[in-house]
Amino acid sequence: MAYTVPKLKDFSPAALDSAVRELLSALEVETAQAGSAEERKSFRDRWLGRKDGILTQSNDLWLKAAPKEAKREVGQRVNKLKAEVEQKVEAAFRKAASATTRPSLDISLPGIRRPLGAEHPIIRTMNEIVGVFKNLGYSVAEGPVIETDYYNFEALNFPPNHPARDTQDTIFIAGQESKPQRDRLLLRTHTSPVQTRAMEKHRPPIRVVAPGKVHRSDTPDASHSPIFHQVEGLAVDTNITFSDLKGTLDHAMKELFGSDVKTRFFPSFFPFTEPSADVQVSCFKCRGTGRIGDQPCRLCKASGWIELLGCGMVDPKVLEFHKDNGYDPEKVSGFAFGMGVERIAMLKYGIDDIQLFFHGDVRFLEQFA
Ligand code: DAH
Repeated sequence: MAYTVPKLKDFSPAALDSAVRELLSALEVETAQAGSAEERKSFRDRWLGRKDGILTQSNDLWLKAAPKEAKREVGQRVNKLKAEVEQKVEAAFRKAASATTRPSLDISLPGIRRPLGAEHPIIRTMNEIVGVFKNLGYSVAEGPVIETDYYNFEALNFPPNHPARDTQDTIFIAGQESKPQRDRLLLRTHTSPVQTRAMEKHRPPIRVVAPGKVHRSDTPDASHSPIFHQVEGLAVDTNITFSDLKGTLDHAMKELFGSDVKTRFFPSFFPFTEPSADVQVSCFKCRGTGRIGDQPCRLCKASGWIELLGCGMVDPKVLEFHKDNGYDPEKVSGFAFGMGVERIAMLKYGIDDIQLFFHGDVRFLEQFA
């Protein structure tokens, strides 16, 4: 039964208290029941309505009807009650209102445009290089960026304390002195350790490329960065010759820089290849002439050639480490190569500062989108 304000016969404090308690508990019940916007509005009218609301009725039926001697007492209670009920009804009304109003949806507003990302020029170049070798039947191999001394140096025929180690300024992990040297950790200085890992895992014949990140303790400048990327290659099989190496890399350079580039191989040294060579490609800017109009070509420093990568025939001493897995240097031979991805990307896209790759400046990066 809905609450109605009772007429009072007894205006004693005790009777007033109980009438007030009943009214307040009815208020509590009805507050909880007022859900929809419509219900809340009639709830408020029912309690606070000027003409016939419950508060007005309590004023009429309790205060106005009270005998003279009880007026003071009743007046105080009705005033207090009025303040309490008004506050409670308004609070309940506001609370429910804010809980049920939803922001209106304007479907004609434009949506949120999420800017499309673009492949980073380094990843893109790396994928392009890997793609060239995939087309030649190579698989992709990977290895850890944190390597042991054994994989980064020893198994590649850099013996402990050999001066060839000094050509790669290495970042070592601290606190490893108690370990044997070959187990000490470092950030790999090249992707060549993946050659070793691949030969441990797979018997010959093998053809793999290994793209990845490498680190060296170099001070950053326009052509050096302590972090950079390489793509390594390894092919081992019966009767692999230097001609296979030349043919493969000549083809790869033509794929990457255009079919009219020429390649030449210069004697070089790497501990893990013998013989070793540096590969140069004819400058694709001045077409190998060293000049653009009557100006010297700046890209190749007027030489007509650009040095791009290291390579060579896998040193028998390296194969020897994997003799038990089928890499008997008497029976198989192979070639290896390694190239710097940043350098190739810089040449391909005409970028003159390696640092641009690592700043994350969208104005630079979005040009490759
Ligand atoms: N690892 C060498 C470097 O970082 C590059 C290299 C040279 C890799 C000759 C090879 C290679 O596989 O045969 O300087």
